[in-house]
Parts: sequence; structure tokens; C-alpha cells
Amino acid sequence: MKNVKRLFSLLLPHRTVLLTASLFLLIASGTNLMLPLLVKQLVDVVMVKKNLDMLNEYTGYIALLLMIQLVFSSLNNYLFDRTEKRVVTDFRKTVFGHLQSLPISYYIKNRTGEIVSRLTNDVAKIENVVVDLPATALQQSVRLIGGVVIVVYMNWKLSFMILALAPVLVVFAKTFGKKLRLLSKEIQDKLAVSTTVLEENISCIQVVKSFVREHLEYDRFSDAVEQSFISAKKRVLISSFFGPGIGFIAFGASLVLIWYGGREVILGAITPGELIAFILYATIIAGPMGSFARMFTRLQEGLGASEKVFGILDTPNEILEDPESPIMPPIKGKVEVCDLRFSYRDDREVLKGISFIAEPGTMTALVGPSGAGKSTLANLLQRFHKPQSGEILIDGIDSQTVQLASYRNQIGMVPQETLLFGGKIDENIRYAKPDATQKEIEEAAKAANAHEFILACPEGYQTIVGEKGIKLSAGQRQRIAIARAILKNPNILILDEATSALDNESEALIQEALERLMENRTSFVIAHRLSTIHNADNIVVMDDGKVVETGSHAQLLEKKGLYHYLYTLKQLETEKETKSV
Ligand SMILES: Nc1ncnc2c1ncn2[C@@H]1O[C@H](COP(=O)(O)OP(=O)(O)OP(=O)(O)O)[C@@H](O)[C@H]1O
Ligand SMILES: [Mg+2]
Repeated sequence: MKNVKRLFSLLLPHRTVLLTASLFLLIASGTNLMLPLLVKQLVDVVMVKKNLDMLNEYTGYIALLLMIQLVFSSLNNYLFDRTEKRVVTDFRKTVFGHLQSLPISYYIKNRTGEIVSRLTNDVAKIENVVVDLPATALQQSVRLIGGVVIVVYMNWKLSFMILALAPVLVVFAKTFGKKLRLLSKEIQDKLAVSTTVLEENISCIQVVKSFVREHLEYDRFSDAVEQSFISAKKRVLISSFFGPGIGFIAFGASLVLIWYGGREVILGAITPGELIAFILYATIIAGPMGSFARMFTRLQEGLGASEKVFGILDTPNEILEDPESPIMPPIKGKVEVCDLRFSYRDDREVLKGISFIAEPGTMTALVGPSGAGKSTLANLLQRFHKPQSGEILIDGIDSQTVQLASYRNQIGMVPQETLLFGGKIDENIRYAKPDATQKEIEEAAKAANAHEFILACPEGYQTIVGEKGIKLSAGQRQRIAIARAILKNPNILILDEATSALDNESEALIQEALERLMENRTSFVIAHRLSTIHNADNIVVMDDGKVVETGSHAQLLEKKGLYHYLYTLKQLETEKETKSV
């Protein structure tokens, strides 16, 4: 019930148009109800009175009614349908907008295919019911109530026959309608699984091909769609019988009516016109009875879908924003991490009380074995997650307390894996600053050592990079990410160093671009190649969610602790590599 209310509250902003459309619909339905009455007159004029003048007159009336019906039906159809499209377009936008506000943790918990299915399949189901259903319900109620009132008034004995048969129809429709509804939901859920398989398949297609697992993927997908076929088969079995069954009951009832009414005509109790009007009313009344049941099924389907979509809308933005919270002033760059504790899941703490200080404009290197929590720390610095306890003070202000956008706007990140949008190079760099001039973009690209390779691309800055940047090399993608970060001009910079081996030349180009980027900013570098952080002002060595050592390169080597161990390990590796070459 709550969902019904919520679903139809989407219509509130359009109430004026909807009321107008309803008025037109009432006029159209009213004329529809008057037609059999005029037909009755016409038939009696022809058959009983045999009056030529009146034949012309009544034909004229009927033609007029048909015209009125044409105009108002078209108008209400147009208004209802247009509003429906408007409502659904707005709803799609609302859901997408909410998805944008959800924290990264939502995307970790939910699979992409499912989210996509919510916004496509489920919203389409809602589209099916949100306007059309109440409009049809109104139209059918007018026909049902109007039809019943008129027939009862005309001849209560005949109407009694129509109404006695109605409950049969309702019980039939309700029983099977419920089964259909349950099966539809099942089919929908199973289709969502296949969407997920498809989505994952496409995004991992290179892995699929390199392991030659096309057949396995085919099987996975076909399993998923076959599962939905099993439910669809059951649904088809019921639905194939459903429509004809309803038709049978309705026509059976008409037959009884003709038989009984025919007798009455022969006996002279009613006129032939009355019988014809009766049969016409019977079809007008039977229509709504069948369609109410169908509407009920559709409503249930729509509600099932809306429950899922509302589920997205009800997922709280975990980093809840207080509109009153202050704006982050321009950052000078002192960062104090104080006893930071964080866990993704309750059973395991990933950061176990991290503390260190970075002075403005300095470079802090974060090193440590894989899984130590370096990327997690970088994510917390960007407020992707909320720490369980502890705080990150920026220029003495608790970063959690300020407006998120004002904070993130001043923090730049060059991630380990560069993700680009599928469009042009130009658009990808411009993402950092939508109103940047062409000159600014080129300057950022030059500083990132990307300008030259961009010019060498077939369309220069207008070159399409392909899905996630697939048409560029890893080093090129990274330099575009650096250009993007330069254009953003952040006060605090986080670099998750790429582990992928680049050739010496592009490594030097990237290193140079990064150094240029880090100038005069407080920067955090997650370093895998320890050779790149010799000149860091401070090195924070992490292990298993804790800081185990801090200091400069020279100090840490002297300590002969974890850093010394990692460093000599790397050195040995490098020596081995050079020997083998
Ligand atoms: N989304 C997640 N849900 C649950 N656990 C996670 C999640 N992301 C990371 N972890 C866990 O948190 C720990 C720290 O991960 P993190 O990515 O911060 O390590 P890292 O130091 O960056 O390692 P690497 O050097 O390999 O990049 C790991 O044990 C990892 O399994
Ligand atoms: Mg990492």
C-alpha cells in the first residue's frame, strides 16, 4: 500500500494536465455510453416505426456522438501518454541522480548488471502502470458503473443475468492473475541474472578470450536465460489460457443473454432495439470486468518492480551530508591522520589506528606489502568511505565535517588503473574543468608529456579513445589521467603508482610529468617501485593496517627494519633482471 502511494505520488506534479485529461476521458466515455441508447432508437425507428425522417435524424445524432468521441478520446490519449513519458523520464533521472550520490561501498556490494537492470527493465515495468493504469481504471469504472446503471434502469431482469455471471469472471481472473504475477516476478529476477552475466562478460572479454573460456561463458549465459525460460514456460501455460478463458466466460454470458432476450422480443415484452442496446451494454460492462483483473496483475508487476527501484532510492547516502555543514576553505595542505581505524566488514579491521602528519607542500610516500591498506587509506583521504574512528585533519579541520564537494574538489587522484570515458581525448581531460579553454587543455597535456602523442593520434585531441580508453596504451592513458589531474589543480594530490611495467622512455616521461604535478602540493605517493621515492620528504611504512616505521629514505635504511627489507628485496630483483638481460 505504501508503495502504491509512493508510486502514484510521482504523478502529483502533473495533476493539472491529468485532471484535464480525465475530464476529456469522462466525456469520451460518456458518449460511448450514450451510443447504444441512440442505436436502440435507430433500430426501433427502422424496424418498428419505419420512419424515414427519424432515421436521418438519429443517424445524424450518432455521427455527431462518434465525432465527439473521436476528438476527446484522441485528446485524452495524447495527454495521458505524454505525461506518462514525462513522469518516467523524470523518474529515470531521479534514480540515476541518487545512484550518483551513493557511496563507493554501494557499488562494491551490488553487481553492475543488477543496477543496470533496475534502471532499464524495472523502470519499464513502472512505465507500464504509472499513468496508463489509473487512466484505464477510470475509463473502465465509468463504463462499468454507467453501463450497470443504464441496464438496471432499462430492464432489471436482464441486468440481473449479466451481474450474476460477473463473480465467475472475477474469481477466475483473480486466481490466475495471482499465479501470473508471481511468475512474472520470477522471470524478471532470473532475467536480471542473465543481464549481470552479460555485463561481466563484456567487461572481462579479454580475460575470457585469453583463457579461451567462450564456451564456459556461453554456458553460464545460457543457464541463466534457460532458468528464466523455465518460469516463462509456466507463465505462458497459464496466460495462453487466461485470455481465451475470460473471452469464453464473457461470450457465454452474451449467448445466454441473447437467448433470453430473444424470447422477450418474440413475446413482445421488449423491442428489438432494446435487445440490441442490451447486448451492446453487456459488452461495454464485460470489458471492464476482464480488464480489472488484468490491471490488477499489471499493478502487481509494477509494484514488484517499484519495490526494487525504491530500494535504490531508499539506500541512504552513507556519507550523509548536512546542508548546514561548512564549506572547506582553500586548502594550504597540512594533513594530520589521527588514529584512523577502518573496516570494510565488521569481522576484520583493515586500518588499525594509522597516525602521521604531512606538512604543506611535502611529498609523503606510502609503502608496504600488498594488502597493507595503502589504497584503503587513499580512499579514506578522498572520503570514499567513512572511518569507524579517528580523523583526518586538513589544516586543522576535520575533513568529515565539511561539505563533501568542496572537499573533493581540492583533492586530486591519479589512480593505479586509469579509467577513461569512451569519448574524445579532449573530453577526458576537460572532465576536470568543464569550462577550460583549449589552451588550458593543451598546457595540461604538455605538462603531462601527453601533448606530442596526442597530436600524433589520427584526430589529435578529437580522437575517440574507445571503451575505458582501450585504444590507448597504458602509459598514454596514465598521462591523460595526469593531464586531467593537472587541470584540476588540486591542493592535495594522491598518486597510486602504476605497477605495470612501462618502457624506460615512457616511465621517464611519466615520472617527469608526476614531479611537475607534485610541485607545491601536499602529495601522497603509493609507491611500488621504491626507487621513485628516494626524495620523498617522509616515508610511511605500513604493514597489516598499522604504521610500522616513518622517516626519510636514509633514516629508514639505517633502521634496518621493514623498509630496509623491502628495499633490498627490490634491489635484488632489479639486479637479477639486469643480469638476465
Ligand atoms: N571492498 C573491500 N571489501 C572488503 N575488503 C577489502 C575491500 N577492499 C580491500 N579490502 C581488504 O583490505 C585490505 C587492504 O587492501 P588495500 O587495497 O588497501 O591494500 P594495498 O595496501 O593497497 O595493497 P596493494 O599494494 O596490493 O595495492 C586487504 O586485505 C583487502 O583484502
Ligand atoms: Mg592498492
